[in-house]
Amino acid sequence: MTAVLPERAGLAVDGREGRVAATARPGAAPSRIRPVRPVNVLVGVDPVVCRPAADAAARAAHHAIRHAVFVEEQGVFADSDLDAHDAREDVVHVLATHLGRPAGTVRLYPTGRPGEWLGDRLAVLPGFRSAAIGGPLVRFAVETAGARDGSRMRAHVQLPNERFFHRLGWTTDGPVETYVGHPHVPMSIPLVGPVTPWLAGRRVRVGAAVQR
Ligand SMILES: CC(C)(COP(=O)(O)OP(=O)(O)OC[C@H]1O[C@@H](n2cnc3c(N)ncnc32)[C@H](O)[C@@H]1OP(=O)(O)O)[C@@H](O)C(=O)NCCC(=O)NCCS
Repeated sequence: MTAVLPERAGLAVDGREGRVAATARPGAAPSRIRPVRPVNVLVGVDPVVCRPAADAAARAAHHAIRHAVFVEEQGVFADSDLDAHDAREDVVHVLATHLGRPAGTVRLYPTGRPGEWLGDRLAVLPGFRSAAIGGPLVRFAVETAGARDGSRMRAHVQLPNERFFHRLGWTTDGPVETYVGHPHVPMSIPLVGPVTPWLAGRRVRVGAAVQR
């Protein structure tokens, strides 16, 4: 059996809708062939994914990035940037991946003051900078703290990054301070309620099923 192309059968392919539509009398030459646009499956897929480091491999990648940036690159810490907050049960270690490759980190935890969270250890590996990973990491930390009933997030921000945080909606709360031996500024942002409930780590009832 011979396949009949749509245009030969007096049909044209509608490029806008991606469907086949009748356009001409049977036997008449097609006036115009409108090709279907190729479907690029990557359109609309963000290469950057931020999520809590949920397993040992993700935690190891998170710590390796922090070590590369804060110990080896910046020398903010001599041997290790680990501290007591890393062992807390309520700490959230976030890992950002770019097309599946570990690229950045941020850490957040409640300070103990009502509604207050602290964000720190924001780091993007040098090879991934200016690729819109740091911004999403900060926004992810803010949304995560808001989803966990936080009302304000604070951070000690390295002075050269003050404008970066201003652009993300943060405000400067005080004068330059020396923090871990480097000039920082205290900054903060108000938190809103949960946009995505699963970030809160609470059980969400969907119909009859209970999902996390
Ligand atoms: C600061 C840091 C996290 C930014 O990450 P990044 O992935 O490069 O940032 P993004 O690509 O998301 O930047 C978003 C925008 O902010 C701008 N930006 C980045 N760093 C900036 C800075 N220090 N000051 C002002 N603007 C900055 C980018 O140019 C970009 O602008 P655009 O949207 O017009 O293109 C990264 O440079 C880093 O890890 N630095 C070393 C560690 C560090 O300083 N950590 C922060 C401690 S407070």
